[in-house]
Amino acid sequence: MPTYAVTGASGRLGRLIVDELMALDVPASDVVALARTPSKATDLAERGVRVRGGDYSRPATLNEALTGVDRLLLVSGSEPGQRVAQHASVIEAAGAAGVSRIAYTSILNADRTTNPLAGEHQDTERTLRAAGVPFTLLRNGWYTENYAGQIDQYLQRGEILGAAGTGKIAAATRRDYAAAAAAALLQDEEGNRTHELGGPAFDLSELARVVSEITGVPVTYRDLPVDEYVSRLQRAGLDEATAGFVAALDASIARGDLETDSEDLTRLLGRPVTPLTDVVRVARA
Ligand SMILES: NC(=O)c1ccc[n+]([C@@H]2O[C@H](COP(=O)([O-])OP(=O)(O)OC[C@H]3O[C@@H](n4cnc5c(N)ncnc54)[C@H](OP(=O)(O)O)[C@@H]3O)[C@@H](O)[C@H]2O)c1
Repeated sequence: MPTYAVTGASGRLGRLIVDELMALDVPASDVVALARTPSKATDLAERGVRVRGGDYSRPATLNEALTGVDRLLLVSGSEPGQRVAQHASVIEAAGAAGVSRIAYTSILNADRTTNPLAGEHQDTERTLRAAGVPFTLLRNGWYTENYAGQIDQYLQRGEILGAAGTGKIAAATRRDYAAAAAAALLQDEEGNRTHELGGPAFDLSELARVVSEITGVPVTYRDLPVDEYVSRLQRAGLDEATAGFVAALDASIARGDLETDSEDLTRLLGRPVTPLTDVVRVARA
């Protein structure tokens, strides 16, 4: 049995990937969970998972943590601006440790996207190509939770504000992406693989319709010009840079960057992607 490692295992996605590996009958003793702060992953250790310290910014920890690992799931870091170097350190350590496959959580449509977050993912994909270790790109779309987590605000205002136009968002839950990542890591295959991962697409008007239907509270989507959306976000308390960034994400959605008709996610899951209605229902429960 190969040994599997998952980085960022104290995070929401990493933790679910560990969970899904075990749901696919990988013994806990064959799973290595890398966490920057191992004390945040004691629950995994209690389940028999081998928890090791692994900090993307401290390469020595990575060399040690990846010893004996066959297949690695590199969960992209959460510190924008540092991630290219951090991911490169993980990839280098994996190569030195003799890891036979690296799977990486990239961004949907990485070949063509204009999403402001894409640069670091595109650079990491280039690093992987240059590293010479077979790799699997898990190009994840948006998490449905990005919206489900804001339902209270939508209900309070009676509207969803944005600048995404009629741009479609092929979102899926963290659980869906985690299950797909675990399935991809278990596949015995050669060469490099790219999976474009997203669920059935909705736009923000459709999101408003679903929220209204499930909560019984009327919510509409109000599309704003980017500049006006930035001003609104600033008035709501965001600093100028953050407001600009949030609005730029919506502008990218309007350009179609987060849309896909790929069936890769359903194929890896072996089941349908969790519907938006279910996510909203669970968020309200
Ligand atoms: N598709 C989307 O909609 C979307 C949305 C948000 C983020 N993302 C990306 O997807 C990744 C996973 O999402 P998530 O929801 O699981 O995020 P999360 O809950 O914030 O988890 C991020 C994980 O990365 C770890 N990490 C950050 N810096 C690290 C470092 N220097 N060394 C080692 N580990 C480090 C964190 O460790 P600590 O627990 O020690 O902080 C945490 O375990 C994010 O990091 C981000 O790249 C995608």
